[in-house]
Amino acid sequence: MTALRYFSLGRFAMRDALLYTGIKSGDTVLLPEFICRDLLSAVAEVGAKSVFYQVDQTLKPVHLDSTLRPKVIIAVNYFGFAQDLKVFREFADNTGAIVIEDNAHGFLSRDEDGHLLGYREQFGITSFRKTLNVENGAFLATSLAEHELKEQLPYIDSSKLGRSKLLQLLLKFEARTNIPTVAVGRFFSRMFRFITTGSQLPKSDKFAETKIPGLPNPQSQSIDSLKNLDETAEVARRRNLYLRIQPQVIAAGATPVFDALLANTCPYGMPIYANHNIKRKLSKIARKNRVILMTWPDLPENVLPSAPDFYKQVWLLNFK
Ligand SMILES: Cc1ncc(COP(=O)(O)O)c(C=O)c1O
Repeated sequence: MTALRYFSLGRFAMRDALLYTGIKSGDTVLLPEFICRDLLSAVAEVGAKSVFYQVDQTLKPVHLDSTLRPKVIIAVNYFGFAQDLKVFREFADNTGAIVIEDNAHGFLSRDEDGHLLGYREQFGITSFRKTLNVENGAFLATSLAEHELKEQLPYIDSSKLGRSKLLQLLLKFEARTNIPTVAVGRFFSRMFRFITTGSQLPKSDKFAETKIPGLPNPQSQSIDSLKNLDETAEVARRRNLYLRIQPQVIAAGATPVFDALLANTCPYGMPIYANHNIKRKLSKIARKNRVILMTWPDLPENVLPSAPDFYKQVWLLNFK
């Protein structure tokens, strides 16, 4: 049996997962260098220390150092592609560390054996806000019993919040008219941000690695969207987009991060290695296919100085 708890952000789900492992102040969490620096805030908020392992170009660990004796090791299913958990389980058996499956990117995706990602270990987190048209939403899936968990945090009714209300209205309008209102709205909001901050996506602030922003409570509308989702159609939409875009990015000179889209994978987007000099071509492909081009990740401050070049050459055509 799996118990679920919903949150606003994957970081809050991770923070609680860490607390349930019994982590104490000063303990170590081993996580990949190739990670968004925001996630470090969940580790910092429980008083633990982030220590990193390298990944290779297939985004698998190069070596997991058992002398580090971490309390927790985080395995990431990058971009919805299943991480092979074998080495993590061996590491856990040898060191007593607890594996947390970070499936922030992999809502609805499965591994080769058909196992749903985010449910393959005692603790898994999924940030479905990254894949669905919702303001916020993430969950912790755990094999702990209900009585071992804190109660579900109350949901926030976002119909009272201006921004969410606008999003709900746009979604309704879009469903009725088939005009891509949300995408157009998002385009203008990103343009505005680009003009004012120089970046299309929100920049992480100076507290990114130490403090999780906002409230942990999820919005009730996000949970409704999750529960009313046609999952089969969503998986098909993502897989079709991937297969359509793949030849286009290869023709543009980029290399897909993953060799193949396996039968059970539900991709977050199309991750590629590419040089900056083909950015224009990639932007054009993004526009044509109505997806969002972004770089990923915003690396942790401690990783940046020694980061291999390929960490900085990953782009994502995000299918949200
Ligand atoms: C691999 C990974 N894990 C966890 C998170 C945290 O998810 P959220 O942004 O919903 O807090 C992110 C966010 O960027 C992520 O990329």
